[in-house]
Amino acid sequence: MNPTFLIAKKRDGGELADGEIADLINGYVSGEVADYQMASFAMAVVCRGMSVEETASLTRHMLHSGVMLEWPNSTAAEVDKHSTGGLGDHVSLPLSAMLASCGLRVPMISGRGLGATGGTLDKLESIPGFRTNLSLEEMCEVVDRVGCVINGATETLVPADRKLYALRDVTATVESIPLITASIMSKKLAEGLDALVLDVKCGSGAFMKTLDDAQALARSMVRTGTLMGVTTVALVTDMNQPLGRTAGNAVEVNESIAALQGDGPDELMDVTMALGAELLVSTGVASNLTAGIEQLQATIDNGLALAKFREMVTAQGGNLDAPRPIAARNDVLATRAGHVQSIDTQELGRAIIELGGGRRQHGDELDLSVGLEMQVRVGDRVDVGQPLVAIFATEEKASAVRNMVSNAIVLSDTSVRPPHLLIDRVTRH
Ligand code: URA
Repeated sequence: MNPTFLIAKKRDGGELADGEIADLINGYVSGEVADYQMASFAMAVVCRGMSVEETASLTRHMLHSGVMLEWPNSTAAEVDKHSTGGLGDHVSLPLSAMLASCGLRVPMISGRGLGATGGTLDKLESIPGFRTNLSLEEMCEVVDRVGCVINGATETLVPADRKLYALRDVTATVESIPLITASIMSKKLAEGLDALVLDVKCGSGAFMKTLDDAQALARSMVRTGTLMGVTTVALVTDMNQPLGRTAGNAVEVNESIAALQGDGPDELMDVTMALGAELLVSTGVASNLTAGIEQLQATIDNGLALAKFREMVTAQGGNLDAPRPIAARNDVLATRAGHVQSIDTQELGRAIIELGGGRRQHGDELDLSVGLEMQVRVGDRVDVGQPLVAIFATEEKASAVRNMVSNAIVLSDTSVRPPHLLIDRVTRH
């Protein structure tokens, strides 16, 4: 293999054959292809793109760079949900338990937060004792026994992505739809799934800021998943304001438990139900989306989902009854009356980083007790002196971000129409 030839072929807009992509990925993992060569290839992909077939090849060879979870004795379907990430998005916590209560198996591999959006593993670690570093054997055992698990990736899963993503991060090559597709899909497909639902976030607090980009990523991931034999559907959902009311770590776990007790905020529940229903329909557990939503709601009404969540937490070493400290509450009040026109969600994410609840760089220690609780949503009318956001932090930390948080909420004199939450549904048809 001559990596220089393959890089030049892509740079000039050529289409790489499956074997050529295999050579590059295998060579990169073995060390035969150097970082500088892979960075150059990634930049060629950023500039020239990749065809559907090339993207599927890249995904497949990244997936096969490591081990895959296998479920030879399973009699139910393995499913998962992936979100491209947004503030206050803790759908994974209630949804995993709700799906397992419907008889599906959820081997969810999740990540840590970096930048403005939180990571599922960090949130779960606010539950005392909760382990997110189970071995693959332990993970499979929890799925067999409980039906759902939420764990971190191991070194042996998709090593090509581990290496390539770190390289892309420092070479301005993250923003490429084929590279993002291969990165996300290789990790999800390594779970050995029958069906996958993707939540592609769109808006000021999302990775994809425009609807066009979000739809393009959704189509690319759905095509790739389908080509690789996994029933894949994507929903494009709004991220111009936090999804749930809370954003942080322990505060999001508390809201997830409230959701499982039937007391979740409407928007969080609407997205959770819509995503879950797709998986129930994809696997034939529900005959249509409405029936799927009813089945999911029943798991909350009859207490099964909350019991399942507790079972998963216990199986992963956590104690749901132990206190999860939340820092003191400090309210940010409206300085004028008006209608909430917009919420700078990224700025709220930055405020959480300032409070110590999010990471500036890999390895930063988090303060899991800090966070925000939104008191308003876009379109709400507010009076002067009304609380807009509660900041959970020491008074000193809260005053350091008070202006940031206050300025992130823009009020207008005229009424504002709330944005649509569920924007688009992308299937293989
Ligand atoms: N998340 C991933 O896992 N990979 C990407 O390339 C971008 C976001």
